[in-house]
Amino acid sequence: MRKTIIDVQNISKTFKITKRKTGFKGALANIFHPEHEYKKAVNDISFNIKEGEMVGFIGPNGAGKSTTVKMLSGILYPDSGNINIAGYIPHKQRKEYVANIGVVFGQKSQISWDLSPLDSYEVIKHIYKIPDKKYKENIERFTELLDMQKFINQPVRQLSLGQRMRADIAAALLHSPKIVFFDEPTIGIDVVGKEKIRSFIKSLNKTDNITMIFTTHDMQDIEKTCERLIIIDDGKKLYDGSLDAIKSNYVSSRIIEAEFEQLPEKIDIPDVTVSDVDKNRMKKFITFDTSKIGINSLMSTLLNNYNIKDISVKEPEIDAIISDIYQGKIIVH
Ligand SMILES: Nc1ncnc2c1ncn2[C@@H]1O[C@H](COP(=O)(O)OP(=O)(O)O)[C@@H](O)[C@H]1O
Ligand SMILES: [Mg+2]
Repeated sequence: MRKTIIDVQNISKTFKITKRKTGFKGALANIFHPEHEYKKAVNDISFNIKEGEMVGFIGPNGAGKSTTVKMLSGILYPDSGNINIAGYIPHKQRKEYVANIGVVFGQKSQISWDLSPLDSYEVIKHIYKIPDKKYKENIERFTELLDMQKFINQPVRQLSLGQRMRADIAAALLHSPKIVFFDEPTIGIDVVGKEKIRSFIKSLNKTDNITMIFTTHDMQDIEKTCERLIIIDDGKKLYDGSLDAIKSNYVSSRIIEAEFEQLPEKIDIPDVTVSDVDKNRMKKFITFDTSKIGINSLMSTLLNNYNIKDISVKEPEIDAIISDIYQGKIIVH
């Protein structure tokens, strides 16, 4: 059995926001009678993560993902609750703790805009006292895997967002941390760039057994990289489990796409709904409820009684499911 390496119990974080009023009277009020608002960004969240596990954190904007990552990395302290990561209490033992972790914030570059990535890496080597051999090995490996040869010597300000993000990821991994937090590493990046980042993260988790948390609001990120996901919204944890379990447990309606050799006058099967597929007359969607009718029996009914050229079961649209979960249409436990 793998050991628990991240243990988070009932953490909450509330931000105090000062309401800013404008105009002369407002300016005076700001000074003498400041008004405050409170925002509970993280509301009683708990979870455990085992060594080498890769967990996707998904939630819409403002859900509390970054606040959670900041507490996990020791940048912010929780108002209540406990965090224990690899034996450390992050915000209390920050100095010793950070040697064990890497953090990547998609919204904010960690490396200097004026230097080239390679120059920044030299600085990081010095700060973290990374031994020569390890440094060299890591630089070589990350340059290759993240395809950075072309821009490793260019000032960061000249790089595209995708290149900059890859350079940032390498920076966070140079000291070979055993735990890495990625906070929206794919935000704003084009499809090809996203793929590079996803496959790198995935392969690193496999080969180096690094424990990872990957936050995103892009479901594709999770589908392609993580088996386990934690869904958060409005500071609360809504779901913790596998993606497959969501698909099979929470969606009972499925769709079969059938292409007919010859179109029947009528498709007469109880408990199914037949609809058109775009303008293609020979193709039909057959929607049914898995609690009323089994996939296999429906498939054989179709194949035995109709003249079918091609048939396939469509995967449930995970984006739609997640959005139903956010809206409270599906209650998960
Ligand atoms: N430093 C801060 N001061 C005040 N409010 C904040 C601060 N950081 C985050 N918030 C608020 O907390 C909530 C959660 O934010 P955040 O953790 O950044 O969400 P996410 O990363 O999921 O988009 C939001 O309502 C945000 O406006
Ligand atoms: Mg965020």
